[in-house]
Amino acid sequence: MTEVTAGVVTESDFVQQFVTLGESKRFNAQAVLIEQNKLQIPQVVEKLIAEAMVEGKQFEERMHLLNIASTIATMHMHWNGDKAPQVRLDPIINKELKEERVRVAEVMKWQKQERLLGNFVMKRNAAAMAEKGVAPVLYPHWMHRIYYECKVCHTSIFEIKRWSNNISHAEFDKGELCAKCHDGEQSFATNDEATCGRCHIAGQPGAERLLKPENIDHEAIQASANRIGAEWWPENLPEGKLPLDRFRMIDWLALKRENVFRPLVSLDQNYKEETRDNRILFVGKTDSVDNVLFDHRIHSDWIGCSTCHPAIFADKLGGNRIRMMEMAQGRFCGHCHGRVSFTFADCKRCHNIPRDAKLESVLHRPHSDKM
Ligand code: HEC
Ligand code: HEC
Ligand code: HEC
Ligand code: HEC
Ligand code: HEC
Ligand code: HEC
Repeated sequence: MTEVTAGVVTESDFVQQFVTLGESKRFNAQAVLIEQNKLQIPQVVEKLIAEAMVEGKQFEERMHLLNIASTIATMHMHWNGDKAPQVRLDPIINKELKEERVRVAEVMKWQKQERLLGNFVMKRNAAAMAEKGVAPVLYPHWMHRIYYECKVCHTSIFEIKRWSNNISHAEFDKGELCAKCHDGEQSFATNDEATCGRCHIAGQPGAERLLKPENIDHEAIQASANRIGAEWWPENLPEGKLPLDRFRMIDWLALKRENVFRPLVSLDQNYKEETRDNRILFVGKTDSVDNVLFDHRIHSDWIGCSTCHPAIFADKLGGNRIRMMEMAQGRFCGHCHGRVSFTFADCKRCHNIPRDAKLESVLHRPHSDKM
């Protein structure tokens, strides 16, 4: 711990000592510090405000600094009788809190539209949309997965990362991004007044259909599939119902197993499909969880090699230090699972091989600590 020097200290030492004393609950020493440095407190508070309000700072970081300033200002008012710094701070803090409440309310509003895994609300350019009188866009991954494997879009049309593709009508007018397909032939157009509302539908009553796959319209899907050269055979579904997993998400593997759909692999007729036909057993270090079997074939069926290698995983057995903590933040398996593919809460779907099981013909991946 920093030792507290009595007397007048520099501004930055003052803040550091004040915080250290607060953390160790030495409030009397804090009061002494406030009294001895009363002349420079208005500047200290001013500096903290300036630091807090630097552009691009996160709300939490900003409030952390403003809270320190506020504690100093309150004690300064109490011990030194000067309330000017506090009066200066109050409206700044109130404005921040109010703006945060508005931000949170906005997020909650759109979260409802995104509750279905892989549904993304797109509204980077919300002001321009409001001006044209259209709602934000709701992009439904699930509906596109019926017609296309992931590799059709990732990564030749879209980087596999939200907000990173600069999606706009300027690009559509050049036939790029969504308009690679939404061109009025393969699918409805982006420049036709009659169809704006099919994409600009987030938060509108018509969005219900995109939020509830259980109300799927098989005839419409079949007609679209036939038009683009994919297949949809709802007669192979018991009572026409989509198979759902325990978390009521669409079970895509069951759909393939039951021979319900055959998506396109590429928009290019001459495309040579490449898959890797092996399985990799992740052997865990602790006894607390079962081992994880990763199926290269199932994954490379849907996803291009270059989507995963080298951006998400080094293509070397045991070459990645995979941790659940990092996965939860969207790295490794978490790049897709929990965002577009089934959720993390489904532990057993990945930790699916008992530790004492003997498996033939799988690659045994050493625990990554042995790297
Ligand atoms: C029809 C095109 C299309 C298909 C097919 C498609 N995606 Fe996407 N994907 C997108 C778009 C569009 C975005 C958002 C890009 C943006 O915001 O700039 C996206 C984003 C993502 C992201 C980033 C999520 C995040 O939070 O950053 C992941 C992961 C993803 N897709 C996985 C998949 C997987 C897995 C499949 C196949 C099961 C798939 N996608 C199929 C169009 C597609
Ligand atoms: C690889 C081709 C492809 C790309 C790329 C693509 N789509 Fe689609 N999309 C389709 C097809 C096919 C349908 C099925 C509807 C139909 O019959 O035309 C569809 C359906 C939709 C639907 C459902 C509409 C409804 O009324 O059922 C929305 C919304 C949508 N797309 C938005 C987007 C957005 C936004 C983008 C870009 C971020 C995008 N799509 C990129 C091919 C594509
Ligand atoms: C295939 C889906 C789709 C269709 C159809 C569509 N849009 Fe868009 N639109 C988008 C996407 C995606 C964006 C970018 C979203 C973002 O800013 O994050 C966008 C953005 C916009 C913007 C913001 C400015 C810009 O260019 O990015 C306006 C305004 C807009 N659309 C109006 C319209 C109008 C009017 C129509 C009908 C003539 C229409 N859109 C049809 C998907 C579509
Ligand atoms: C969904 C992501 C994903 C896709 C798609 C994918 N891989 Fe992998 N790959 C992995 C993971 C995970 C490992 C294991 C890495 C480790 O042990 O740390 C791996 C390991 C490998 C290895 C070393 C182990 C082995 O199998 O010999 C090679 C080589 C490889 N990948 C090649 C490919 C090729 C070629 C493709 C496309 C046909 C492909 N991968 C598609 C995730 C993927
Ligand atoms: C690039 C996207 C992506 C990444 C990265 C990824 N997956 Fe998947 N995974 C998928 C898709 C798509 C499916 C198909 C099922 C679905 O979407 O719900 C799938 C299915 C699975 C399944 C069910 C299939 C089976 O074998 O029974 C398991 C288990 C699985 N993934 C484990 C993993 C593990 C473990 C990792 C990391 C080592 C990983 N996945 C990384 C996209 C991904
Ligand atoms: C998408 C697949 C997937 C899902 C879902 C998943 N895991 Fe994991 N988990 C892995 C992989 C891959 C590893 C790394 C194995 C290794 O190298 O040791 C791992 C490692 C672990 C480890 C040991 C190392 C660490 O990071 O702590 C624990 C404990 C664990 N998982 C618990 C869980 C629990 C609990 C859940 C459910 C809440 C869960 N996992 C869901 C794929 C998954």
